[in-house]
Amino acid sequence: MAIHIDTKQQLFHLQTRSSSYVFQILPSGYAAHLYYGKRLRDADLSWLLVTTERASFSPNPVPEDRTISLDTLPQELPVYGTSDFRHPLVQFRLPDGSTVTEFKYVSHRVEQGKPRMEGLPSTYVESESEAETLFVNMQDPVSGLHVELQYTVMEAYDALTRSLKIVNDSTEPVELLRALSASVDFPRADYEWLQLSGAWTRERDVVRRPVAYGMQAVESRRGASSHQQNPFAALLSPGADEDHGEVYGFSLVYSGSFIAQAEVDQFRTTRLSIGINPFDFTWLLEPGAAFQTPEAVMVYSSEGLGGMSRTYHRLYRERLARGQFRDKERPILVNNWEATYFQFNADKIVDIAKAGKELGIELFVLDDGWFGHRDSDNSSLGDWVVDKNKLPGGLEDLVNRVTGMGMQFGLWFEPEMVSPDSDLYRKHPDWCLHVPDRRRTEGRQQLILDFSRQDVREEIVRMLTEVLSSAPITYVKWDMNRNMTEIGSALLPPERQRETAHRYMLGLYEVMERITSAFPHILFESCSGGGGRFDPGLLYYMPQTWTSDNTDAVSRLRIQYGTSIVYPVSAMGSHISAVPNHQVGRSTPLDMRGYVAMSGNFGYELDLTKFTEKEKEVVKRQVALYKEIRGLVQTGEMYRLLSPFEGNETAWMFVAEDGSEAAVFYFRVLAESNAPLNRLKLKGLDPAADYALVGTSGVYTGDALMYAGIAVGAERGDYHSEFFRFRLV
Ligand code: DGJ
Repeated sequence: MAIHIDTKQQLFHLQTRSSSYVFQILPSGYAAHLYYGKRLRDADLSWLLVTTERASFSPNPVPEDRTISLDTLPQELPVYGTSDFRHPLVQFRLPDGSTVTEFKYVSHRVEQGKPRMEGLPSTYVESESEAETLFVNMQDPVSGLHVELQYTVMEAYDALTRSLKIVNDSTEPVELLRALSASVDFPRADYEWLQLSGAWTRERDVVRRPVAYGMQAVESRRGASSHQQNPFAALLSPGADEDHGEVYGFSLVYSGSFIAQAEVDQFRTTRLSIGINPFDFTWLLEPGAAFQTPEAVMVYSSEGLGGMSRTYHRLYRERLARGQFRDKERPILVNNWEATYFQFNADKIVDIAKAGKELGIELFVLDDGWFGHRDSDNSSLGDWVVDKNKLPGGLEDLVNRVTGMGMQFGLWFEPEMVSPDSDLYRKHPDWCLHVPDRRRTEGRQQLILDFSRQDVREEIVRMLTEVLSSAPITYVKWDMNRNMTEIGSALLPPERQRETAHRYMLGLYEVMERITSAFPHILFESCSGGGGRFDPGLLYYMPQTWTSDNTDAVSRLRIQYGTSIVYPVSAMGSHISAVPNHQVGRSTPLDMRGYVAMSGNFGYELDLTKFTEKEKEVVKRQVALYKEIRGLVQTGEMYRLLSPFEGNETAWMFVAEDGSEAAVFYFRVLAESNAPLNRLKLKGLDPAADYALVGTSGVYTGDALMYAGIAVGAERGDYHSEFFRFRLV
């Protein structure tokens, strides 16, 4: 049993495999938070709540108990206006114009399993025994509004998910001003805050800083989770590192504008909250209507960041990603984008695919430029009809030529966009997000289709269905290359305009659900100028994401390391591209590019026909090696060994779930003269077991590999990489 309820004390104890989350309903009806941390035995835990009268400006809402002030009470459902001065979880504008609410406990119930969230992505269970869900019904007695706090304990997956269902049970419409998904009050403020931040082609830098008085937040106001910030934040106990210390991860299953924030108050406690960004958001709730917030996934680790990451990896790989490809080894692909950009014809494509086939590559992906008259990024988005100038035989003919030689065929789309120079836009100029009488700001010469509209969604689904049914296509790259401006919808009334961005996300999720379930045999990879929407929301529909448009091996060390803080390797697309690299101009050896790309879903993104004979031999070996190790890389437990954010070296390794094998990758960016002879300490092995080093006759003990380490970095030269494969003896 994962949820223990002491009905007499109204105390709720939620237990995952290694954490406990405890709260209690006070006699006054408030839901007080008692504890979140390392798993506790189930016992009387009510003593964990300590309240004391504070001689400060903290008013007392319960006159008979002056030790209670909402300003000091740790809470499950904090609101503003009734004596808590910190940021609230929810806020409304009521028919009388006031924004004050106060929620008191009404009832609760527990269900076995985890209900699906209508219209929103979320983690899921495969059998009811995998989870228990607690619903706590809270009501604001004055307005009649209800908030249902929803907690799912995925005991074996070691995670706790939270969400709110907000119901307008009153007789008049109310306006939802703020609807976050989770808020947790931590008793102290000596934590570090960790966020994943960056930019296009430099996504998900690992950024750590001590929390301080006041607000610290990461947020997106771009209508996408964004390159700049990721919908994730963690609190770390003092001194926590990769393997030690307490870490609390908060990840939001959402792809739109979000906020994750930590507020340190006067008493040096920390309130961490995460959810849809209230900035430029309101939602009109008619009587009887409900609003479901996206899911927040909380993971506690007492084994540092590595422990937290492995929990997220397993959960997101097995119980967020769906479909046939979830558990399948992913194909090695070649994508023509950096090989040809927009300048190609059918014969060139077939030549690249043929070269790929000879090298052992399994899937050819035709990127941007195959439709309309798209010879540059100036036109044709929305006209998903093959360009007969480039592909005179049509798509079917090209696909048949490629599949005829035993390669699978994949295709690029950017379904959410429209070019002003397109038939679709000329026919439906009001189908894009826009505000009447204002400029329609273009980004990459394109506008965003208004996916909050059903007619728009129907037409896009129709066009995609037509293309995907027209030929044996088994892979789709779903791109999205700009952020939202002039966020408005032609069909929504003025009072609902600020719903547009969230309605867009709901529409996008609907389209993705329809398309991915109509074509279950297609492997979908999401992309947003690389990693501009690398988030759990999209992973629910598409099991992999193009990690970054930056394919430089050195840059990728940081990008893939940072991404792995939350996301499993099975979600990361990573390709070898040409040198000098097209994004940063750096030239790195094929070996290093190979090992970096093999640390994810492997592929090539260059003109394979230009390889020399010698390079072809290297590539053949890379392809053959990846075929042997991809099961291990894609589904093994990942251990980060050396961080590119801390020095010149990076290393990570993958250990098979059954412990039978391990793959170790080591990278050194710049050579150093007379450096110490280096040892790399492995992790995740059985200290009592012996391991054979594949390709040699060497056998090593697990303890020595982990505690003493293997010798690395003896060779000279920049951009150096090494790979080791161990098999349990
Ligand atoms: C951005 C993507 O990230 C690239 O890989 C490529 O598909 C281009 N768009 C095509 O326009």
